[in-house]
Amino acid sequence: MQIEFRKDSLASLSCAVLAVLHFEGGEIGAPLPEETRKLLEELRAAGELRGKENECTLLHHPAGLPVARLLVVGAGKADGFSDVRLRRLSGTAIRTVRARGLRELAWPVVELNVGSAGKAQGPEALQAVVEGAILGDYDSDPYRTSTEPDRRMERLLLVTPGREASEAERAAAHRGQVMAEAQNFVRDLVNEPSNILTPAELGRRAEQMAKQFGLACQVLGLEEIRALKMGAFLAVAQGSDQPPRLIVVRYNPPDAPSAPVLGLIGKGITFDTGGISIKPATDMHEMKTDMAGAATMLGVMRAIAQLKPRVRVLAVIAAAENMPSGKAYRPGDVITSMSGKTIEVLNTDAEGRLTLADAITYAKQQGATVLIDAATLTGAVMIALGNITTGVFGWDKDWVNRVLASGAAVGEKMWQLPVDEEYRELYKSMIADLANTGGRYGGAITAAMFVGEFAGETPWVHLDIAGTRWSNDEKPYLAKGPTGAPMRTLVQLVTQLAP
Ligand code: BES
Ligand code: MN
Ligand code: ZN
Repeated sequence: MQIEFRKDSLASLSCAVLAVLHFEGGEIGAPLPEETRKLLEELRAAGELRGKENECTLLHHPAGLPVARLLVVGAGKADGFSDVRLRRLSGTAIRTVRARGLRELAWPVVELNVGSAGKAQGPEALQAVVEGAILGDYDSDPYRTSTEPDRRMERLLLVTPGREASEAERAAAHRGQVMAEAQNFVRDLVNEPSNILTPAELGRRAEQMAKQFGLACQVLGLEEIRALKMGAFLAVAQGSDQPPRLIVVRYNPPDAPSAPVLGLIGKGITFDTGGISIKPATDMHEMKTDMAGAATMLGVMRAIAQLKPRVRVLAVIAAAENMPSGKAYRPGDVITSMSGKTIEVLNTDAEGRLTLADAITYAKQQGATVLIDAATLTGAVMIALGNITTGVFGWDKDWVNRVLASGAAVGEKMWQLPVDEEYRELYKSMIADLANTGGRYGGAITAAMFVGEFAGETPWVHLDIAGTRWSNDEKPYLAKGPTGAPMRTLVQLVTQLAP
């Protein structure tokens, strides 16, 4: 989607569709000519326009405007309006317009002098509009042959009536575009079926992305992974005919301070059958998304390569497929991780923490001074927080708080769950240093803490995205399917770290 600025007044703008916000109290979010206002008031009086959030009404040849169509976007109550709601509304507008075969939408960039709507203002609000539009312009059915091949929008016109857009506004629109395009890149990867997105293919996609945006990328194969003695990662990978890959992407701006070096570790299981501790058939197909953490980290790298914050970042992904076979690892096996810690495998379906263990050790060895992992790690976190909220874990209060603050700033819901010494008992092994499961109770916590054992003294935050990687409902502003969460949070965090 092209993002362009226009300085025409609304009374002279020509465009396929002009969107205006309409709040429940009747407030209109744009300087419309008197005639057009009257029209909207009539419709309101007749009960046709109510201003309910996401309720859209398309008017043709609206009185007083040269545009062919006016899209009245219900914006809800003016009170409590926010960037988060604005992001959704622009998504709703785009999806409504697209569904009618239209390819161009104009959005007024004006002050909203209504209730507390005044808070959703300025460059951040503009960024949210652009993000919402690009995220709304996404489909999750790339392999359907019967749909119109070109459903995507051509243009979003950001209209600053009677004035040039400021530098700050242009920069905000650019940030929004970079952010949302990276998030759609994450969604595309998560959506790919596992016969196509194998560990090797994930490595190729990472290389392509890195090349396109000027990042350094290394993809290590089986022999190199063996040489690194990544016994935990290799155990998970050994059951599959698909060889594993260790994917490393680096962003090292020359003007960045030497510390911190942020290590981003993404769980990259391209399919999780559970292995010998095999999963039930119901919903097993969803396990193609078990590389959502990896996709998230690649998306973060893609975005920061363009936004260029002065921070060093290293992404590490241990990509493998978890399969049962004659070569597969078994319950009861004892494996030696790259760190030297030994692990008794009690359940081969608790594979994510094993791959993360070695990826974290590698990231530390490569100089990471702060670690964040994102992983579709447990069903338990879905029981606790559903599909709405990402679980946040970590010992370091400061880093946990930074992540929570970044989530709040970009509108991705996060909630901290505890880590506590007392849970350690639950994943002790009779025979080795650690066991790879801690039982059913507190499953998201013991999984997180297991991963944290490998971070050691290095500040570390774990994001369990098993719930938030995917949305089961079609929203007016967002297609059902992969969400791309929590990529925006991490990009926000990185940009906040820059001096
Ligand atoms: N990838 C799954 C977790 C998952 C479940 C992600 C549902 C998305 C949706 C993970 O590898 C797993 O199987 N975890 C087990 C751990 C258990 C065996 C200790 C789980 O949560 O059941
Ligand atoms: Mn599993
Ligand atoms: Zn898994």
